[in-house]
Amino acid sequence: MSPSKKLSPPEIIAQQLEDFYELRREIVKALTPSNRYEEPDGARYRELLDSLQENLGEMEDAARQLHQFYQDAERRLERVLKASSSIWTRPTELFPSKIPQFTPIENRPPAPGGGKTRIVSFINLKGGVGKTTLTANLVAAFASGAFRDLDGRANRPARVLVVDLDFQGTLSQRCAEPLVLQTAYEKGLTATKLLETRAEAKVAFDELTVPFLGLPNARLIPADESLDDKDVRRLNELASRRTETRYYHRLWFHKPAVFENYDFVFFDCPPRLTASSVCALVASDFVFMPTAPEAFDVNAVNRTMSWLGKTRKNLNLSVQFGGAILNRTNNEKGLTPLEEKNKNRVKLVCDDYRSFFQESPETSARAAVLDAFIPRRSGGNYINGADGDALPGATLPCFHRLATEIYRRIQ
Ligand SMILES: Nc1ncnc2c1ncn2[C@@H]1O[C@H](COP(=O)(O)OP(=O)(O)O)[C@@H](O)[C@H]1O
Ligand SMILES: [Mg+2]
Repeated sequence: MSPSKKLSPPEIIAQQLEDFYELRREIVKALTPSNRYEEPDGARYRELLDSLQENLGEMEDAARQLHQFYQDAERRLERVLKASSSIWTRPTELFPSKIPQFTPIENRPPAPGGGKTRIVSFINLKGGVGKTTLTANLVAAFASGAFRDLDGRANRPARVLVVDLDFQGTLSQRCAEPLVLQTAYEKGLTATKLLETRAEAKVAFDELTVPFLGLPNARLIPADESLDDKDVRRLNELASRRTETRYYHRLWFHKPAVFENYDFVFFDCPPRLTASSVCALVASDFVFMPTAPEAFDVNAVNRTMSWLGKTRKNLNLSVQFGGAILNRTNNEKGLTPLEEKNKNRVKLVCDDYRSFFQESPETSARAAVLDAFIPRRSGGNYINGADGDALPGATLPCFHRLATEIYRRIQ
């Protein structure tokens, strides 16, 4: 090893491993001479064994350093996450008169279906729990009328707008026509614009929406990777107290044009605290939390609820807790005893934090976890899966039940 170049622990390990294999080859050679009349070379064998010992020692050292390095990195990451979550929940420094208005539900103009627009965020700080899948299928259920209203009437399609707030753009890629999406990306007509004021963005709200797969009553605001940059920039600005960056979505969505055009606005949030997810929350009436019914997932519910609770309290939000939704259960007919147990744990965790939310007596009397759940689907996804049937939420009874229960909870 050249002493002039300082190697990193992984490089040391790789180098030592190479030496190790070389030594092993030589040891085998020393022990099994090519000529069967020769004695094994004991002295050479011992010498090689010593080198091997040294070699292992170096690897051990490097492994220890590596372990230390990862521990430090983990601690640093934890500090960063903690700091950024406390940045997001920091009380606003704007004068009350300068805070963009949250229009209370009752003050909104009538929505197309005759009621008032409801703005709903689907949030969980864990990825892969089904936020996007559930949101997309609920759009399909509501926009095709696959739900019952309070009078038990079905088949009344609602106008729905869904907003992709994850820079990975899963919802966009699955629910918009590829060519339409390509054009929107090229023109920069995406959810990234929502993190600007209207004057900065220089686009009309309608220009940001594209059709949502084959459904005449649904529209989508797509997301792409440019959102990641913008989210980080907005975090830094808030951190350095240059700009209050948590109210953009109020500016865009609490407008008569949105209220008059849509019965529901759904935000599909990323599994992280970003400017977009905070802005969505600040503009929302309700938040629902998809989760898997496994013990392991209860931690994420706890983390998410604690953050939602703090945000609500410190930013004085109007958002209400809609409930947790179990996704990927084992059976269609009912929960297994273990799933029931985990449902109960989710319920206890949510109940712990519900005092942070402004709840009406009816809302707080509701169970924290919805009765409706979505079973695991094998052999294909729920959206554009291997079996090719797009958005089964418009037809499957489990989504019909879920849409109906959500509808009841947000009235
Ligand atoms: N009930 C389900 N049955 C089968 N697969 C599911 C189910 N819900 C979600 N998935 C799959 O799990 C993956 C993660 O789901 P997704 O909705 O993208 O999660 P999130 O938005 O929370 O990150 C996707 O591949 C999705 O198709
Ligand atoms: Mg998602």
